[in-house]
Amino acid sequence: MKTRVGIEAIGVAVPRRYVDIEDLARARGVAPAKYTQGLGAREMAIAEPGEDTVALAAEAARRALDAANLDRANLGLLVVGTETGVDHSKPVASYVHGLLGLPRTMRVYDTQHACYGGTAGLMTALEWIGSGAAAGRSALVVCSDVARYGVATAGEPTQGAGSIAMVISQHPAILELDLGITGTSSTHVHDFWRPIGQREAQVDGHYSVECYLAALGSAYREWKTRAIARELVRGGGLASEALARICYHVPFCKMARKAHLHVRRCDLEDAGVPWDVAAEETRAAQRFEDQVQPSLPLCSRIGNVYTGSLYFGLAGLLDAQAAELAGKRIGLFSYGSGCTSEFFSGVVGAHAAERIAAARIADVLAVRERISIAEYERIMALSPASPLGEPPPAGGFRFAGVTDHRRQYVTG
Ligand code: CAA
Repeated sequence: MKTRVGIEAIGVAVPRRYVDIEDLARARGVAPAKYTQGLGAREMAIAEPGEDTVALAAEAARRALDAANLDRANLGLLVVGTETGVDHSKPVASYVHGLLGLPRTMRVYDTQHACYGGTAGLMTALEWIGSGAAAGRSALVVCSDVARYGVATAGEPTQGAGSIAMVISQHPAILELDLGITGTSSTHVHDFWRPIGQREAQVDGHYSVECYLAALGSAYREWKTRAIARELVRGGGLASEALARICYHVPFCKMARKAHLHVRRCDLEDAGVPWDVAAEETRAAQRFEDQVQPSLPLCSRIGNVYTGSLYFGLAGLLDAQAAELAGKRIGLFSYGSGCTSEFFSGVVGAHAAERIAAARIADVLAVRERISIAEYERIMALSPASPLGEPPPAGGFRFAGVTDHRRQYVTG
């Protein structure tokens, strides 16, 4: 019998503070519409040094485990996907393992390839369970990042921070993934990188968009070939129409619009229909509203979470529409600069609405505080070793400083 495998439960964590993107535009002397319409942003999560990648990961992981109501002794794998770790050697996953008191008998490590790191962890977990090696055990995959480009740079309005944790098991109540039916695309490019010792990313912004789209076209077409061969979708070219929704990696929300248009272009070219971008941009508007837009509102309120952005898109989509999507297939595209990428798919679970409700996403956002641009700039200038020293929220974690070369965390 085929092994069912996928996402059983989700937990999210975001920083306590955010800025309104229109406040940022005004402070930079930019028309607010450039950020709201041109980039698709609304709010940007701001992490203070106490809300580091570990603290956010541990908080999201605790919430995912609580939502799954899982016997922790049944966990065999913990992978944290991140590109903003806190140590060159000791992984974020090791801190999370210790802070949550998880079993000794598990594999614990980080995966890194820019924003793809979380997907690397997810694919490992799926294949570990699907192969039978897990012997009935579950995995915890966490995507956690603090995205910084620096004050007054072109990338500034696309910053963000947060963490999303997923329990992966043979009980995929939220999303059963199509095991082995994926398309991948990798090339050696310098579109986005962060040299050792630098806190802010380097990016060739417009080139990075081109790299993303080239990778998407290639990964999507490989997924399509496999999905047609396994009769998940019909042949003839227009495979994307068979997907009820598509969630894309969203470094900024407008990227999803560019991505969806590109997928359409691939489909039409594969079907032998000439590509007419002007005509298709008009026609694509409604398709985009139906197939992609529902995955964006949550992302637009947090900003880029690098490894987590795709999965925040998925969580936001299901929080809004899980009931109507039950039993339907959706597509997902993960992109990591540098670059590697993967297009994959899965079927929304019959009880996904109840399970995603357990993540209490609205409650997590509701306790945030809007801060001024002056306060945001003050936080950005803090040393990463100087947390504000605020108490963590109930059940949450905060980095409290370094003692004897060891990072210390407190829990609420
Ligand atoms: N009203 C409405 N729209 C406006 C406007 C106005 N007044 N002014 C400008 N715009 C529109 C522009 O037309 C443009 O839209 P299109 O892309 O549809 O043409 C959009 O706003 C952005 O304008 P610019 O291209 O002029 O903006 P920019 O050059 O200042 O920066 C950016 C844009 C390059 C994406 C920059 O934000 C950036 O470097 N971001 C970080 C890199 C990034 O996110 N890359 C994505 C792919 S890489 C990846 O996915 C990995 C990852 O997570 C980083």
